[in-house]
Formats: sequence, C-alpha cells, structure tokens
Amino acid sequence: ERQIFLTRHGESMDNIVERIGGDAELSERGHKFGAALSRFIKRQREAFAEAQQVRHEEELRQLEQFDTAESTVSGVPLAQSLSSCSEKTDLSQGKFVIWTSMLQRAVQTVETFNPAEYDIKHIRFLNEIYSGLREGMSYGEIQRLYPEEFAARQANKLYYRYPGMGGESYTDVIHRLQSMIIELERMTQSCLIVTHRVVMRILLGYLLDWTHDEMPHMDVPIHSVYELRPKPYGTELKKWQYDE
Ligand code: F6P
Repeated sequence: ERQIFLTRHGESMDNIVERIGGDAELSERGHKFGAALSRFIKRQREAFAEAQQVRHEEELRQLEQFDTAESTVSGVPLAQSLSSCSEKTDLSQGKFVIWTSMLQRAVQTVETFNPAEYDIKHIRFLNEIYSGLREGMSYGEIQRLYPEEFAARQANKLYYRYPGMGGESYTDVIHRLQSMIIELERMTQSCLIVTHRVVMRILLGYLLDWTHDEMPHMDVPIHSVYELRPKPYGTELKKWQYDE
C-alpha cells in the first residue's frame, strides 16, 4: 500500500490579484503553507509507517496460529521462517517521491523539504494550463475586453483552447499528462505532487473517476491536500485543509 498526496502550490502573488498563468513567486502565506506542508507530510509518513508495521506484525501473528507440523519451508516451521524474514523486511517501498511543476510557485512550495529524505523532481508536464495571449490577465479583464472568448470558455471549458501560440485547452492538458499518469500508476513508492488547479482537477479526476464534463468545474482550493490510497476495490480519499 502507498500514499499519494496531491496539492496545489502555496498562495502566489498572482493568486492575490487573481491573475491567471504567469510564473509568480509565493506570497508570505504561500511560504507558510509550504513549511506546514513539509511538517504535515513528515507526520503522515510516520503514522503510515507505524500502521504498516502494526498490520505486518498482526499478519504474522495470524499466520503463527496456522502453523502446524506440515507448514514448513525447507524443514523450518512457516511462522519461524516468516518472522525471520520479517526482521529483514523493509516495509517502506523506497524513497518518498516529490514531483512539482517547473513553475516557481510550485518549486518554492517544497523548498523546506529535506532533499536528503526525498526524491524531488521538477517536471514541465505538471505546469499549469498555458493561457496563451491571456496569460497574466484576470477573469474580469478577459470578460471586459474579450466577452465572446469569455463566454465561449464558460460554455465549453473542456474543449476551449486559449488563443495564441501554445495556448491550451483542458483536453490538451489531459493529453500531456498521459505519460505522468502511467508513471504514477507504475511506481510503488508513496509520493507528493505539487501542481496547479487544472492539473489537480485532471489528476484527481483520473484517480477518482470524475467525468470529463464535471472535471473542469470541480472545486480544488489552494492550501488543501488530498491523500489517496489506491486499493483493489477503488481509491480511498482523505482531504485536509491547511488551518492558518
Ligand atoms: O488562477 C490560478 C489558475 O491556476 C490559473 O493559472 C489558471 O489559468 C486557472 O487557475 C485555471 O482554472 P480555470 O480552468 O477554472 O480557469
């Protein structure tokens, strides 16, 4: 079993003035969130490791009760052979992984995580939707200056592509995230992903089976952390809100 934590970056200077896109730095509140996040993740990892250990010991105890004269491994009673291997069992499945986008606000959010304890990577695919010619504008400005564009996006957020070179739609972002999702499914380590509103909606949508139509409208506020645990019968979800 593993833990997958997903969050948006801490509050950025652009969040304060409600500008979209760009590469702003964190606000003071945003830095505080980053520091709280590193403490939170540390605690959650410790609690998880303890719970795993307890479960592991319980499983061994249950097996012991089934230990009979016949249940031997190369002549060694099964329980004995299992407990000797349990001493060597490393229950953590490798170093905890952290992925962030390459934008400053995401990179700065993990600046207080100890790099010796985590495998940290910054990945361009996790960057926010690129809003082309509308980068750096607020929704109010777009609505006032480009009312038709604004209405077109409202009417079809999933397919609407921002104008200008490299401008993206949700479906474009879904496509560029395919390889990340495959990698996330494949890896066995626990991880934290620090990204942006659109990417969060898509990753959560994928992991929690949201439909493509509802995904662009889901509420994923900053400073909330989602913990997912993939299980054979579905994904368990916990949501935490940073309390300042
Ligand atoms: O405002 C923050 C932000 O991440 C922008 O950079 C981005 O364009 C926007 O949210 C995406 O949200 P929505 O798809 O709801 O406009």
